[in-house]
Amino acid sequence: MFVCDDVPVADIARDAGTPVYVYSAGAIRDAYTSLDRALAGHPHAIHYALKAQSTLAILRLLRGLGSAADANSGGEIDVALRAGFLPSEIVFSGVGKTSEEIERAVALGVKTINVESAGELQRIEQTATRLGTRARVALRINPDIDPESHPHISTGMKTTKFGMSTREAMSLFGVIGRRPSLEAAGLHVHIGSQITSLEPLRKAAALAAGMARDLRHAGVSLDHVDVGGGLGISYDASPVPTFEAYARTILGELRHSPVQLLVEPGRALLGSAGILVTRVLDVKTQHGGKRFVVVDASMTELLRPALYQAFHRIQPVSEAGPSEPPETADVVGPVCETSDTLGVDRALPRLAVGDLLVIRDTGAYGFVMASNYNRRPLPPEVLVESRPSTELRAGPSTALRAGAWRIIRRRQTIEDQLALEE
Ligand SMILES: Cc1ncc(COP(=O)(O)O)c(C=O)c1O
Repeated sequence: MFVCDDVPVADIARDAGTPVYVYSAGAIRDAYTSLDRALAGHPHAIHYALKAQSTLAILRLLRGLGSAADANSGGEIDVALRAGFLPSEIVFSGVGKTSEEIERAVALGVKTINVESAGELQRIEQTATRLGTRARVALRINPDIDPESHPHISTGMKTTKFGMSTREAMSLFGVIGRRPSLEAAGLHVHIGSQITSLEPLRKAAALAAGMARDLRHAGVSLDHVDVGGGLGISYDASPVPTFEAYARTILGELRHSPVQLLVEPGRALLGSAGILVTRVLDVKTQHGGKRFVVVDASMTELLRPALYQAFHRIQPVSEAGPSEPPETADVVGPVCETSDTLGVDRALPRLAVGDLLVIRDTGAYGFVMASNYNRRPLPPEVLVESRPSTELRAGPSTALRAGAWRIIRRRQTIEDQLALEE
């Protein structure tokens, strides 16, 4: 029986319906506190990357743990504020910022704007001058480092659209020094996502730390070096670097730098804390002999497999009997696209219509990429709160529903969708 922090997943599916995202508050807490503890040897701030998952209840949970925020759009700035983050706790990233987004970030006085180009720096300066204020900026470096990840989520090579060369950044820091409405707050580098080798992350941190040193010698004292996010998780149970190994690697490069370290993790905090629960709609064998399990989740709830052939473990909620041999099948959604495949050639017990499956490690880049394609509603999200063992022994909590889970976002209705239309 698949459980999330002692709560049977089947109970949640019965009450909340399927498909449904389920997150463990305990797992999020554990990930955050482990990373924070691992970085304790150096002044640091964890700016959780909202792009990975930005539902209000999850953001409030992270903020309660001490997290700051990394917003990648005006919408994410608004959501971060709504969740209680102060402007001084928000860094604003993004490869193309609209004039409205720049104006909002400058007027709010966010902790820093991560600047992507000379043109963008000029637009920020003009905005700050017009508003009679000073904008705190960090320049985003493109270090030309291969993160050894999927090409679609590699952002630190010079063939990609992100950031600027170190040479251009060094010259722009000179420009910033001459502009009264700009303040040089830091350096930013984010080379990609789902990075499972520490060496590229070490190289990027070393480059940023070296630049911060060179700048100090040239009379520019930065407040922080932001090494971005990118630390990968294990989608297939193979080993990946721990937070301790990651922190040792990064801090090793920043040891002698008096600057604050900023990190912007998304996936590493949320990825393994969430599952997508889905129900079997049909089981069929095609005339060539290939077997398909059709489920009620699809690329509209979880885009990663269709977008970059991402692998997620898929498991039945009920355990198979010991004598049942597994059968190989593709797990597919109901959307009329062949790419709507959630798992290829998976060995699963014999399944029947109505059975429940769990798609694992979908806490990050899952719900946030969901769409209304085929007029499918956005799924609900559930947060499970683990209870202290004393309370568990005492029976169901009175404050929370038995099992201590709650819906943090309801399922979208067709009325919600049509409310925007003529
Ligand atoms: C600028 C920036 N920071 C942080 C992140 C979070 O990355 P991850 O979820 O891999 O930690 C991203 C995502 O790619 C990003 O673009």
